[in-house]
Amino acid sequence: DAVTGDFKVADLSLAAFGRKEITLAEHEMPGLMAIRAEYADAQPLAGARITGSLHMTVQTAVLIETLVALGAQVRWASCNIFSTQDHAAAAIAVGPDGTPEDPRGVPVFAWKGETLQEYWWCTEQALTWPDSPTGGPNMILDDGGDATLLVHKGVEFEKAGTAPAPETADSEEYREVLTLLNRTLAEDATKWTRLASEIRGVTEETTTGVHRLYEMHRDGSLLFPAINVNDAVTKSKFDNKYGCRHSLIDGINRATDVLIGGKVAVVCGYGDVGKGCAESLRGQGARVIVTEIDPICALQAAMDGYQVTTLDEVVETADIFVTTTGNKDIIMASDMARMKHQAIVGNIGHFDNEIDMAGLAAIPGIVKDEVKPQVHTWTFPDGKKIIVLSEGRLLNLGNATGHPSFVMSNSFANQTIAQIELFTKPEQYPTDVYVLPKQLDEKVARLHLDALGVKLTELRPEQAAYIGVPVEGPYKADHYRY
Ligand code: NAI
Repeated sequence: DAVTGDFKVADLSLAAFGRKEITLAEHEMPGLMAIRAEYADAQPLAGARITGSLHMTVQTAVLIETLVALGAQVRWASCNIFSTQDHAAAAIAVGPDGTPEDPRGVPVFAWKGETLQEYWWCTEQALTWPDSPTGGPNMILDDGGDATLLVHKGVEFEKAGTAPAPETADSEEYREVLTLLNRTLAEDATKWTRLASEIRGVTEETTTGVHRLYEMHRDGSLLFPAINVNDAVTKSKFDNKYGCRHSLIDGINRATDVLIGGKVAVVCGYGDVGKGCAESLRGQGARVIVTEIDPICALQAAMDGYQVTTLDEVVETADIFVTTTGNKDIIMASDMARMKHQAIVGNIGHFDNEIDMAGLAAIPGIVKDEVKPQVHTWTFPDGKKIIVLSEGRLLNLGNATGHPSFVMSNSFANQTIAQIELFTKPEQYPTDVYVLPKQLDEKVARLHLDALGVKLTELRPEQAAYIGVPVEGPYKADHYRY
């Protein structure tokens, strides 16, 4: 059981195993390691108190230790109840110089299989800094926007002097947020306002979190500047696509070990994530069908050789269903009721509302049975079963270990650069949502070429002049789409 200190993890004795995997991952994360070397002397994050809310995996451990190597103090929580790798969390809590008996690492609050109540408790712990003047961080590193949401809702309710009752929440998730904020309002009515006052900014990892930031900016409620890391080319065109290409089938395989070849797989959504998912399923020999609402993405899917149709057309005949939309209500209980016996249903989008789990549970006479953690059969009254992965939460992190190190090195190099930008140049970033300059995007890519033996062609000055770009880049206009 966990030794309690200023952290909470499942099992500190896993730290040595975690440390070995962190060491292997470092070799596969050349971007992060190059940034560590580049900034070792300058210590640009000295004075930064970073609260991170991002899947507590081995790759995230390398990110955390990079931030620390650049001078930051860090507190961490996972951004999903199933995504923590307990050995990585243990290694981070123990630290490179500590032991399970004498942990000296980073305060981390994360374990695989949190309840929703525990999840929000962990997020609050990561945001609560015992020795800081405001009681909080001065930077947030977010994935999906939950840490940012808690601060913003806290400030909103403190301004109003009251928070809505938990019973009014439209989801189980939000009920926990309201319960927590009603408690903090009673205990300390200025906690979040005080805490927000010193936050220089947030760097956001994923599509869904970025949507939330732009919405808050539009309605005037955004409290501090944000860097949209997701839309760095070296993030969304790599992590979302090639990362999911790797980890989607990893999750399906570990969960079910079903032969994918020959099966009919439906991928809902053909954005960056959907493109990677469809390719990996096809790579295994599945016959892949795509659903889309956007005519451009639908046409792309068709030109890439996929059948594009509606879920309604194929729900009764397909074997595997994957949602990748970042939208809600994609596969409803009434759809699942029509599926084949032992159809597999999973989501790889950020939140679990793509699949109507509440509707499924509410079908009279339905029986849920756990095959193993994060794999459940749901048996309908007529005896038909379907298999649901990770209870509708992102299956690549729930059923497998998420994206591999090399692709995360790109994402997290962007995260680290974004943290340095916002922390060291606050005057250049009035409250708004920014993307990193293209030159930094190109730098992140450059840091990963050697490891793959890529030889880049050097642009000659006459050629550079002819196409109108500097020899040293950036090589494309901001509107270029890759
Ligand atoms: P995106 O915006 O590029 O793609 C989503 C696609 O879904 C769009 O093309 C959209 O037109 C389509 N769509 C929306 N509603 C639909 C509907 N009702 N039916 C069919 N298609 C629909 O977003 P991206 O980057 O692909 O991300 C998708 C989700 O995955 C987000 O929630 C994001 O945060 C998450 N994500 C998850 C990762 C993971 O490791 N599990 C990694 C990266 C992103």
